[in-house]
Amino acid sequence: MEKILVLDFGGQYDLLIARRVRENGVFAEIKPYNRISLDEIISNGYKGIIFTGGPNSVYDPNSPHYDPAILGIGIPVLGICYGHQLIAYMAGGEIRSAGSISEYGKTEVTISPCPIFEDVPEKSVCWMSHTDYVNSVPEGFETVACTESCPCAAMADVRRRIYGVQFHPEVTHTEYGKTILRNFLFGVCGCAGDWKMDDFIEKTVAKYKAELKGKRVLCALSGGVDSSVAAALMHRAAGDNLTCVFVDHGLLRKNEGDDVESVFRGKFNMKLVRVNAEDRFLTRLKGVCEPEKKRKIIGEEFIRVFEEQSRVLGKMDVLVQGTIYPDIIESGKGDASTIKSHHNVGGLPSVMDFESIVEPLKELFKDEVRAVGLKLGIPEKLVMRQPFPGPGLAVRIIGEITKAKADTLREADAIFREELERAGVRPSQYFAVLTDTRSVGVIGDARTYGHTVALRAVTTDDFMTADWTRIPYEVLETASRRITNEVKTINRVVYDITSKPPATVEWE
Ligand code: XMP
Repeated sequence: MEKILVLDFGGQYDLLIARRVRENGVFAEIKPYNRISLDEIISNGYKGIIFTGGPNSVYDPNSPHYDPAILGIGIPVLGICYGHQLIAYMAGGEIRSAGSISEYGKTEVTISPCPIFEDVPEKSVCWMSHTDYVNSVPEGFETVACTESCPCAAMADVRRRIYGVQFHPEVTHTEYGKTILRNFLFGVCGCAGDWKMDDFIEKTVAKYKAELKGKRVLCALSGGVDSSVAAALMHRAAGDNLTCVFVDHGLLRKNEGDDVESVFRGKFNMKLVRVNAEDRFLTRLKGVCEPEKKRKIIGEEFIRVFEEQSRVLGKMDVLVQGTIYPDIIESGKGDASTIKSHHNVGGLPSVMDFESIVEPLKELFKDEVRAVGLKLGIPEKLVMRQPFPGPGLAVRIIGEITKAKADTLREADAIFREELERAGVRPSQYFAVLTDTRSVGVIGDARTYGHTVALRAVTTDDFMTADWTRIPYEVLETASRRITNEVKTINRVVYDITSKPPATVEWE
């Protein structure tokens, strides 16, 4: 199988780069720069290597470096941002700090013809984020792009097939980023592009079949897309040794518990245990308002329930979780700052009763997880379902959580979803949030003092960034009217028109 190596120097975008490569039908493997030797790189037969960006400056004593011999082994290299500067440094060029004229954001770039710029116009917009820049290119290289404040926005050694770009071709803000990556993969590295999702499934199943042989495996099933796909994938690897535990924490959407149970027991014929744990979750959450605290409590309680189940079911060796890549980055990976502790990552207690945790989807983005799910034969209705966070309605009830509030929110949320589905409007995610605001209203001649519900709908591919969805007014109006008529304690409905960033998708 042809593979590209993404050599990670500590940037935020290693998996985004890998994903862009995989979108072209070429498998990409990510390795931290200090976890793969030059000999391994040579013997693994990579078709090309991409150096990622990173937060450092090449002259810092602690900055990540690699053996410069990597530039002489005949494998094409593309360096991005820090990777570009590192290539220049390793090959004898000079790097400088731009100081106050550092570039950030959309920038016009002017290119000259070269193999990675095939079909790219002379002027286009790219995404820059750097302070240092290459001031003089090493011998054998020529400058092939510049911007107003960056004299070397790209360089090329066409003979040795080594390239560097200061900007980020992997982000969508770079207009011709996809073209540039395609040129590198196909034009420079000579890839065929015949890798498919089936290969991921085959490889993952084979890997875990070997690793989990004879082990008893517990899968935490929430009924959401990620854990469902993880369960189906691991069912192929572990067969009857896999038991799925579905914890109903009382913070699920309307009818959700029963729906999940019927799909997994019926269609998949998996061993499934449903634990009704509403009381214990609500008791532990009593009086808790702080979002991070809610997440940690729920994450911890989940694990306690699993541990107990594993005692009831007999000792389980391995816990499977449906963690996906955005959960990991947003929970703080390396230098990336912590935004939220997603309950299945940051919220895990440190002492657990399992030998190991397996997260088979942790390198995939949501759309890739869905593709895997469809290939595994999970019904489209379930796979294409909007995501639902592990902590459930807890992060959609602002302030203290009570059963009454959860019931109120469940009703409002069900109406909103029903109305969108009826109107054929399908945002990437859509739900209701119960705010902790109460306000005055009037019904008939009587004053009311009810709750405010916020409706949220976003459009996104990868949930890392998201735009608020322009829902037709009529649909909002019907949803609002029905909610205030049918849900007694709600007398006001608002629509959230904030994108991510600066907001996040969930309110907590
Ligand atoms: P945010 O709110 O971080 O959400 O913009 C991005 C996506 O992640 C989902 N989400 C979670 N999923 N556990 C999960 O499994 C969590 O703790 C969690 N928090 C947020 C959210 O619904 C959205 O799809």
